[in-house]
Amino acid sequence: MVRGRRRKASDSMKDPCGRTIDYIRISITDRCNLRCMYCMPETGVLPRAHHDVLRYEELERVVSCARDLGIGRVRVTGGEPLVRLGLPGFIRRIAALPGIEEVSMTTNGQLLSPMARELKAAGLARVNISLDTLNPETFDAICRRGGLDRVLAGIDAALDAGLVPVKVNMVVMKGINDHEVADFAALTLERPLHVRFIELMPLGDAGDMQPDCFVPASVIRARLEAQCRLHPSAGVTGNGPARYYRLEGGKGTVGFIAPLSEHFCGACNRLRLSSTGGLSPCLGSPDEVDLREPLRNGASDEEIRDLIRRAILAKPAGHDMANQPDRARRRRMHRLGG
Ligand code: 5AD
Ligand code: SF4
Repeated sequence: MVRGRRRKASDSMKDPCGRTIDYIRISITDRCNLRCMYCMPETGVLPRAHHDVLRYEELERVVSCARDLGIGRVRVTGGEPLVRLGLPGFIRRIAALPGIEEVSMTTNGQLLSPMARELKAAGLARVNISLDTLNPETFDAICRRGGLDRVLAGIDAALDAGLVPVKVNMVVMKGINDHEVADFAALTLERPLHVRFIELMPLGDAGDMQPDCFVPASVIRARLEAQCRLHPSAGVTGNGPARYYRLEGGKGTVGFIAPLSEHFCGACNRLRLSSTGGLSPCLGSPDEVDLREPLRNGASDEEIRDLIRRAILAKPAGHDMANQPDRARRRRMHRLGG
């Protein structure tokens, strides 16, 4: 394989189910400045010892080895990635690696506004911003820290800085924010925002609330369709499973992500790296390939690539979160980066 040139999907590895793996999500920290009710306990998580978390140079090495295997798209996640110091420099380095086609980021938006331009200049292509409500009191109830106005400023700043397409992720929860779905859809009328409605998964802290709060994507969509016409829309840049629709005259789109009710595992294209160097083939499975010890014990690039290959080859056909809630509960979203 020729290293460094722009790769086509045909250069990427396939897993045992024939799925092309060309995308990696890397969690750069477990820490977060919010405490979303479905993700973290109110008291937060015990901070990882500094030493446990991969250094930027180590992360860069993983990205570079993954790139050698045809994984050209990288998403930086957390926890909240913007709480880790030095992020623009890290993004600059990985975005400059030959063969890296795109670096994107998922953020809660709290710290985005003052950093958006610097991140864009560093090579960040686009952002997904998590936002579950447009009501300040509901925001405080869901997120328990931070402020709605900061997220809204982050969205404005992302659009201004050209971190586009800007996607807004809303986890829909019955009795908490499901009455706001139409308000979120309306955000797409005036500005090119891409709002995605996400089903609540029974991961970690969401395990307890999920049975009561789950709203299937089909119900969200039916409710919206009762109020407005949705036109199927192709072509929102992305790596994932959402299906997109445009409201009449809308500048943006709405999308639906249904990890439970529609089980999109058949089209899964990704690996996930935890902040402590665990490479996970699947959100639903506890199996991880440890990269940290090999990285610190002098493994060669070829050895690291072999471990990444091993994770790809261990990728299960799919998750079974709907039927194995206890197993899902042990998976923590703030470790896995969404
Ligand atoms: N179910 C669905 N989405 C979740 N997220 C975090 N935990 C869950 C869950 N249990 C989402 C966040 C964010 C992304 C990183 O993952 O809201 O948009
Ligand atoms: Fe932080 Fe994201 Fe978890 Fe909310 S969902 S607590 S923003 S990591």
